[in-house]
Amino acid sequence: MFDALHPQPDDPLLALIGLYKTDDRKGKVDLGVGVYRDEQGATPIFRAVKAAERRLLETQESKAYVGPEGDPVFLDRLWELTAGSAGRGLATAAVQTPGGSGALRLAADLIVRAGGRKIWLGVPTWPNHASIFKAAGLEIATYPFFDVPSQAVLFESMADALAKAAPGDAVLLHASCHNPTGGAIAPEQWKELTEIIESRGLLPLIDIAYQGFGKGIEEDAAGLRMLITRVPEALVAVSCSKSFGLYRERTGAIYAVAASDKIASIARSNLALIARVSYSMPPDHGAAVVSTILGDDTLKADWISELSSMRGRITSIRDKLAAGMSRRWQSLTAVAGQEGMFSLLPLEEADVLALRANHAIYMPTSGRINIAGLKSAEVDAVIEKFLTL
Ligand code: LMR
Repeated sequence: MFDALHPQPDDPLLALIGLYKTDDRKGKVDLGVGVYRDEQGATPIFRAVKAAERRLLETQESKAYVGPEGDPVFLDRLWELTAGSAGRGLATAAVQTPGGSGALRLAADLIVRAGGRKIWLGVPTWPNHASIFKAAGLEIATYPFFDVPSQAVLFESMADALAKAAPGDAVLLHASCHNPTGGAIAPEQWKELTEIIESRGLLPLIDIAYQGFGKGIEEDAAGLRMLITRVPEALVAVSCSKSFGLYRERTGAIYAVAASDKIASIARSNLALIARVSYSMPPDHGAAVVSTILGDDTLKADWISELSSMRGRITSIRDKLAAGMSRRWQSLTAVAGQEGMFSLLPLEEADVLALRANHAIYMPTSGRINIAGLKSAEVDAVIEKFLTL
């Protein structure tokens, strides 16, 4: 039967990892997949993660099954980190997932089970969003989000498009650190979005995958926190991949905020069922690490401090890039004010391929760059190479 299958292209973003690895040119630069790198080019394990792992090695007494919902203590602690005081007292269903992508897939399946048919995605968004939602059977609609040449968030167009969405449609929002643009939604714009979502009867699905990499742990969740207290229902997909550097441990969670405890409990049972028939139970290790860190004041303080120095490094690279690149592309002064790991440069596919061929600079053909992939010492040289275009 397998000869009836059609070959599928590799995921272009993940394929870059392999292409970069096999390039043996000195001074190659990886601005591709979204992982944090330090000044040595390494993706470090957080000190607090190492300490939590040592503790788990000594104290964990069993590897017995945890169940499809995962660990309730992890889920409570992660919800407190994500939603803060806004989340307390809300009727919420929580299920631990294999990373943020797992959370998005469970969310999509839940929407379909609840009778939802369509989800609105910003243009542009993380390419895997559309693939995940389509695979779950949702129809994709789009709203404008960002204009690459001018580097502007198209808030008015976004609001106009969503004001025309039909009741029951889902809408995907990035909590902060927008992937791939870095474009931020201001607090008053979050209010306007909340009003549109409420008045149109839309279901918000908020993807939060970079908490702490933008303006700060609290600031990066502020819009989400305001929104979930005002709408009757919401889904929040949390990834611990970047914020805790647990990429390959596949650690995340899906939260469904519901209108009552009874409805939340039904939503939880549906999420648990979807998990059970998809992969049975989520991986435990990363969640156990996060739970250990968030449950210990000393480890938590150390994690916050390491995360804030990562954020500081990204911010200073942003400033240097904005100053250098705006010599050629005026609009790129905006890069300094954008947030998170990514910015989206006004490049053609041919430019991206030329940078790769001539200068061993790797990035997806969309023109997205992972700012956290640059070392301070190489920024000037990298800018000069961009200026050859
Ligand atoms: C990215 O956008 O680079 C990350 O979210 C990694 C991924 O899975 O695509």
